[in-house]
Amino acid sequence: MGRKPHVIVVPYPAQGHVAPLMKLAYNLADHGIKVTFVNTESIHVKLMSAMSEKFKEGIPISLVSVPEGLDGEDTRAFLERAPSSMPLLLQNLIENINESNIDDQVTHVIADVTAEWALEAAKKMGIELAAFVPCGVATLAFVLHAHRLTEAGIIDDYGVPMKDEPISLSNSIPAWKKNELAWSFPGNPESEKFLFLNSVLTATENVKISDWLLVNSFYELEPSACDLIPNILPIGPLFASDHLGTFAGNFCAEDSTCLNWLDQQPPRSVIYAGFGSTRACDQQQFNELALGLEMVGQPFLWVVRSNFTNGIVEFPDGFLERVEKHGKIVEWAPQEKALAHPSTACFFSHCGWNSILEGISQGVPFLCWPYFADQFHNRNYMCETWKIGLELIPDENGIVTRHEIKTKLEKLLSDKDIEANSLKLKEMAGKSTSEGGSSFNNLTSFIEQMKQQDV
Ligand code: UDX
Repeated sequence: MGRKPHVIVVPYPAQGHVAPLMKLAYNLADHGIKVTFVNTESIHVKLMSAMSEKFKEGIPISLVSVPEGLDGEDTRAFLERAPSSMPLLLQNLIENINESNIDDQVTHVIADVTAEWALEAAKKMGIELAAFVPCGVATLAFVLHAHRLTEAGIIDDYGVPMKDEPISLSNSIPAWKKNELAWSFPGNPESEKFLFLNSVLTATENVKISDWLLVNSFYELEPSACDLIPNILPIGPLFASDHLGTFAGNFCAEDSTCLNWLDQQPPRSVIYAGFGSTRACDQQQFNELALGLEMVGQPFLWVVRSNFTNGIVEFPDGFLERVEKHGKIVEWAPQEKALAHPSTACFFSHCGWNSILEGISQGVPFLCWPYFADQFHNRNYMCETWKIGLELIPDENGIVTRHEIKTKLEKLLSDKDIEANSLKLKEMAGKSTSEGGSSFNNLTSFIEQMKQQDV
């Protein structure tokens, strides 16, 4: 029997990456494992200011930070600097922990599959290493396939597609269309290249050097994709540890008033519209969105972040007064609780992977409005494979009109097949994380292996 494990957990510095790793960290702490969670300084500051005092007192993991050496938030600048500056910072942090208490040595590192700086530092120090994948298994399979696509002349060295045909990995997984690759960034070829070079290619290397490959998904959701990656360990859907009443992985404070508002609404009546942490739109699209939601005439809960439009958020004339009785708008919702609320009928979503798992876990159907990267394929999975959602079709100018939104929401809310499929998936997700289920067993086995290693 080895020493008690002490795990260093390192996310990629973005909301959709920090949150699922935090959930994993709490799960590990619940199993008696010591966890030190390492954020960059700017993310750490956000988490601490969004966290309730009650949570801070009882938090079961240590939250620490390393300076990214940047003023403000510039993810791109960070990613450019990280490979040279971060490995040493992490190495120093681990050495300090090891020197300060002989019984508290760092035994394992779990890092986001794109956080090469952490994986590199751990490898150098001979520490056991798990890469964590916050997106779906199919997306990972596609990313791992990128080298072969380059060799075959299907994409160039920067990930730019050279052919028009969709790329298929298996008959049971939707094919990837030209503008819907895992690194697609519509209208922004520079970001597309950057994402390809800095996430896709590094992820491939990181998978190779890791001792475990954990993913926030479950086998029954993506059997064909899991079969493409023999060493994959699906451990999801990961849940927020709820014993302190709130989740501490958010960058913004949750506005819980929407839960009281949901209490006042009829069962299965509310459209929950939430588009993750980064999706933004211009004023014209924003207006269509607002008016489309209004036109359905059902209650809606809409998350409008302060940076959701490309300027100051301005609602259409008279909108707020008109929807006062049946619309609730917040800057950041307790999303998992809102989706679990009996009044919630469906999820109008940008198809971020965390949102998908959260919606599936509650059996809500989706109206799909993807924005970039894996979100297109996630939509295709939902609409074509699992049949739990409908897609929005933009008009010839690329705008999703209010009429399209109204029509599809009404269709979604009355579609019995989609409702039945959503409930079936909910049951499958619940089984996978319950005792004896596939994800439960995978997580238990991972924890046991960590505990048994003679370190
Ligand atoms: C991104 C990508 O979209 C996603 O596809 C990728 O795999 C991970 O990173 P993001 O765009 O933020 O993440 O979306 P999503 O993956 O859905 O994550 C958002 C998280 O924020 C979810 O866990 C959601 O519950 C939470 N959230 C969002 C809230 O808690 N409240 C809100 O109001 C909105």
